[in-house]
Amino acid sequence: MTTAASAPNIALIKYWGNSNDDLRVPAAGSVSMTLDSPTVSISVEHTDELIVESDKKLTPTDLGRFEKTLENIKHYLILEGLETTLPGYVKISVDSKIPAGIGLASSAAVFSALAKAISLLVDTELTDEQIATMARLGSGSAARSIYDGFVALDADGTTRQVAPMDHWKLHDIIIAPDIDHKKVGSTEGHRLAHTSPAFDARIKAIEEYRVQECEDAITQKDFEKLMRVSEEDCEDMHCVMQTQNPPLQYLNDETHRLIRELKSLRADKHLPLLCTMDAGPTVHVICEEEAVEAVKNYAHAQEECTVFEAQVGKGSYSA
Ligand code: PMV
Repeated sequence: MTTAASAPNIALIKYWGNSNDDLRVPAAGSVSMTLDSPTVSISVEHTDELIVESDKKLTPTDLGRFEKTLENIKHYLILEGLETTLPGYVKISVDSKIPAGIGLASSAAVFSALAKAISLLVDTELTDEQIATMARLGSGSAARSIYDGFVALDADGTTRQVAPMDHWKLHDIIIAPDIDHKKVGSTEGHRLAHTSPAFDARIKAIEEYRVQECEDAITQKDFEKLMRVSEEDCEDMHCVMQTQNPPLQYLNDETHRLIRELKSLRADKHLPLLCTMDAGPTVHVICEEEAVEAVKNYAHAQEECTVFEAQVGKGSYSA
């Protein structure tokens, strides 16, 4: 039996829409920061049939996703010439500290931990790039959680590190107004992203300048630049979501109130903080050290919200 652990990542330039839905090849590049918490731990062992055990209730859709991901991983290992190392069937045991479906990238943590645990089970040493590809087959964004620090997932489905975790000690104070599971998951959402009239223009903007600006901001530790490009892209992704068919509205009134108040805190106190949301109402407040105390004070004063405190993290690891 092998065990691996992983944490979510927060996208600064976001992945929304695929060029190949089955293999989760993204329609454009994305860039993220790997977090250090909350974590998921996954154990895998050889068995005679696929078994998935979890501390959370699994739906038939969840089970189907594990099954399909394992099938795709097996095909991938064959393509890589590693068929002798294939797991026949595996038992997967999931222990997650992350509420699912609220925009906290629980699937990124789950599938990056699963890919890492499988890589430890097969008897050949796999590269991070190969492990990231296996993770991507379960959840596109999971590929980015294999690496520490700041990570890019390119439009051809390959991943690369933009900067290691000790390059820039950013924090992510996560404010979740609602821990109920969202109705439409991102797998389904990605499939219909192209039906939005705003989809093509967003892909073009990402390709033409957003990924580059984001990477430059990270390399130069230019928070102002990071804030501008990541908030622009977040707004644009939610515009695509809200105009695709059928529309997806992940943000709620609480999300908008939190963003409004955080932006006025930023303006009043000149704080280096930015707000970004994935596929849920949860607000991620990314900030530099000098803003972290004010952001934590604000977050913990939101009585109805659940708060998670994370920092840039080390990526998936053997546990
Ligand atoms: O990896 P998925 O299928 O859960 O998609 C993630 C989509 C977003 O979280 C909204 C954006 C991103 O890049 O993480």
